[in-house]
Amino acid sequence: MHPLSTSAPRVRQADFRFRCIGCGDLSDAASQDFRCSHCGDLLEITYPQWQKAKPRAENLKSAWSQRRLSLKPVDLSGVWRFRDLLPTLEPAPGATRDDSQQVITLREGNTPVYELPQCAAITGVPRLFAKHQGTNPTGSFKDCGMTVAATFARRAGFRWVACASTGNTSASMAAYAARGGMRSLVLVPEGKISWSKLSQALDYGAVTCQLRTDFDGCLRLLQELVRRCPVYQLNSINPFRLEGQKTLALELLEQLDWQPPDHIIVPGGNLGNSSAIGKALLEMRDLGLIARLPKLSVIQAEGANALVRTLRETGGKRLVSVQAETRATAIRIGNPASWKKAAHVLEATGGACEQVSEVEIAQAKAEIGAEGIGCEPASAVTLAGLKKLVKQNFVKPDESVVLVLTGNLLKDPDFTIEFHRGELFKGSADESASARLDPLRRAPIVMDAALDAVMRVLEEAEKS
Ligand code: F0G
Repeated sequence: MHPLSTSAPRVRQADFRFRCIGCGDLSDAASQDFRCSHCGDLLEITYPQWQKAKPRAENLKSAWSQRRLSLKPVDLSGVWRFRDLLPTLEPAPGATRDDSQQVITLREGNTPVYELPQCAAITGVPRLFAKHQGTNPTGSFKDCGMTVAATFARRAGFRWVACASTGNTSASMAAYAARGGMRSLVLVPEGKISWSKLSQALDYGAVTCQLRTDFDGCLRLLQELVRRCPVYQLNSINPFRLEGQKTLALELLEQLDWQPPDHIIVPGGNLGNSSAIGKALLEMRDLGLIARLPKLSVIQAEGANALVRTLRETGGKRLVSVQAETRATAIRIGNPASWKKAAHVLEATGGACEQVSEVEIAQAKAEIGAEGIGCEPASAVTLAGLKKLVKQNFVKPDESVVLVLTGNLLKDPDFTIEFHRGELFKGSADESASARLDPLRRAPIVMDAALDAVMRVLEEAEKS
């Protein structure tokens, strides 16, 4: 790429600063790798003006509900509607201040909260809800962060954006780059992401590289690339992403009429989302939007359990990396970038960190599906984890619980089809353990187009 193909970054921040989570250094600008120039740790965004004049909780709540009646794109977005707690944009040189012209939005957010009565009966927790991020424009929670980070990428004058991904980030980035008139470069592990996610990146026009490595290898390469080329990185190392993803929690609390649930449970991969939700909860408490903190818990797959091991083996002091392996490919990550941020918010909210097996994930996914709410395997770790937390008495039956379903069922149809056909665990060490899931299977029945035969199927099904 010719260096002149992009203009130099030129964003000036008016209302926020970058703070290093390691040494606490404050700065007005961030380098392209979003790492502290002193100690190399990750950055987060802070709002110094809140110290002088905190936004008033009542004013925020009423502004946010009034914007629901507006037809401006910036208000129809379930992210930018909460822009008072997001970094705001300096107007483009010469432009009048009009946020709706500046943001790249696909009307992300605005995701539903569902009751889960059948899963409630299974877990013995009657007040069980799901916040379904899979209804976002590209089918995952990534869109909430991407609208903010892609907007800042464009304002900084970048022509190219890039990410390493297990699939969903790349789908989301490609869509927002396309909407914003930018080019996008995707680095994904070859053979380890679902075709659905790959097809999204291709359809939205990304340049897609399938690298012969895992996600962690893709991310390492990306970090090198952004130091060498004028490419804006849109992984969750980018703190603008996390600011956008905070709105999941803001919207959830608004939907619950600002009555905090006792527990929020999220899947953990690269650990950006849990960090973002935790940051939002702490900010909401500090601003008086909520009176008490929900406990935020993170669930990982046993085969990709870096945070679980980090907390158990080092008390959160040092990252224990793992060689990740799980069929929940979205969270097949062994060296999570945001582990320190996640460890901090778990501690601050009093949450837990658990791991679940492949069979437990498949079971939970089928149980959520049987409620008429499809999600992808990585999302189902939340229900599987809840069962464990109930057994440990960490979650009590009279407490309320929100599971964050991060991605749509259609993101990984192979997993679902293989499960129902009984092929998911064939030949694996889990084959015999998975036999107990047989009653949940609904394999398609291939048969002649004969009325009698279909009626017999109906009779048989009626008995089961
Ligand atoms: N659930 C889904 C569906 C995901 O796609 C991811 C992450 C996670 C959970 C974990 O979230 O990384 O913030 O802890 N997917 C990334 C990607 C890594 O590239 O799409 P996290």
